[in-house]
Amino acid sequence: MNKIVYLDAAASFLKPESVIQAEADFLRNKYANAGRGVCARAVDVDDMVRNTRARVAAFINADESQVIFTSNATDGLNRIVNIISHQPWYAELSTFAVSDLEHHSARLPWEELLHQGRIRKELVYELDDKFNIKIDSIPKTDILVITAMSNVMGVAQDVASIVAAARKKNPNVITVVDATQYVVHEKVDVKKWNADFVVFSGHKIGADTGVGILYIKDADKYFPDKFGGGMVLRVSDSELVLNNAPEKFEAGTLPLTQICGLAVAIDELESNRPNLDLIKYMYDELKKIPAVKILTGRDAAVLSFIVDGMHPLDFGAIAGANGICLRVGNMCASWIHRALGVDGSIRVSVGPWNTLSDAEKFISIVKSIVK
Ligand SMILES: Cc1ncc(COP(=O)(O)O)c(C=O)c1O
Repeated sequence: MNKIVYLDAAASFLKPESVIQAEADFLRNKYANAGRGVCARAVDVDDMVRNTRARVAAFINADESQVIFTSNATDGLNRIVNIISHQPWYAELSTFAVSDLEHHSARLPWEELLHQGRIRKELVYELDDKFNIKIDSIPKTDILVITAMSNVMGVAQDVASIVAAARKKNPNVITVVDATQYVVHEKVDVKKWNADFVVFSGHKIGADTGVGILYIKDADKYFPDKFGGGMVLRVSDSELVLNNAPEKFEAGTLPLTQICGLAVAIDELESNRPNLDLIKYMYDELKKIPAVKILTGRDAAVLSFIVDGMHPLDFGAIAGANGICLRVGNMCASWIHRALGVDGSIRVSVGPWNTLSDAEKFISIVKSIVK
C-alpha cells in the first residue's frame, strides 16, 4: 500500500519517535502520580512535571508560576472565561472584542456569556486585505480576544502592538491570546506580548493529545475556577488556604504521560520547525490551475483554497482516497469563511516530517482531481 501523505499538521501533529519513546518509557518504567507521593518514584514524577513546566516556561519566556497545565487550547480558552466571570469584580466588565479570525474555541465561550446575559456586548474589530488585524480598529473594551495566527489564513499577528493598542484605550483591558497555531511556527515571547492570558495545545506541536498550556500573567491575582486535590495548602471547616500558582489552578491529577512527552516535543519542534517553503511551492503550483482559487497569501503558514464547482468535502474525500490527508470544511472557524464568502475550504498544512516529494504528490493528485 502507498504511504499516506499527511498534510494536516495544523489539525494535529504526527508524533516524533522521541515523544513516543519518552511516553512508553514513562508508562512502563517510571509511572506514579505527582504531587501526592513520598516514594522515590513519586518524587521523580514530581521532578518530571517541574522540569516540563520549566521547559514550557523557557519556550514562551514565562516564569514557571505562570504556566498551568490544561487538557488543550479549548479547555484553556473556556477556563479563562470561567476564571474571569467568577472574579468578585466581574460585574464591572461589560464588553468583549473579537475579530473574524477566531476559532470557535476562542469566540464561542464569550458568546455563550452574552447569550446568558452575563456580559453586555460583543464588539468586532477589523482585518485588512492581507488578514492582518487593523490595529487602529481595536476598540475600547474590557476584554480583547486575539488570534495570534488563524488556522485558516495562517498569518502571524503583531500581538505586542495589538495588546499595547488595547491598553491605550483601556489600561484595565484583559487580553486573551490564542497562540495555538502561532506557537508552531514562531517564537512566543509572553513578556514581549504582555498579554494577560495565552493558550495553546500540546498535540499541535508534536506532544500527545490531552495536554495544553494556559499562561496567566498575574496568576496570583485570580481566584481559581476548579477545586479539588492538589490546589489546597490547608482546609478546615473555617478556612480554605489555596496553594500559590500554578498549583492553585491544577485541581485533580494531571495528564502525566502527556506532560512527559510535551518537554520532548518542544525540544523536537525547536530544532526542526515545519518547512514553509513547501507551502510556497504548493501555492505556486496551485496558482497555475485555473479552477483553484487560493484564499491565503504565499507567505502564510497554511494553504487554504477552494475549487470551482466542487464542494470541499468531495475534494477531501477524493484526496483521502488517493492517500492525501488534509482538512476540509469550516475548520471550526465559521466567521472567517463567512467573511471570505464561502461555506468552507480545503486546507493543506505541513509538519517537520513533510518533504518536497509529499508536496509534489499533492500537486499531482490535485491535477488529477481538477481536470
Ligand atoms: C487557532 C486555534 N485555536 C484553538 C484550537 C482548538 O484546539 P484544540 O482542539 O486542541 O483545543 C485550534 C484547533 O484547531 C486552533 O487552530
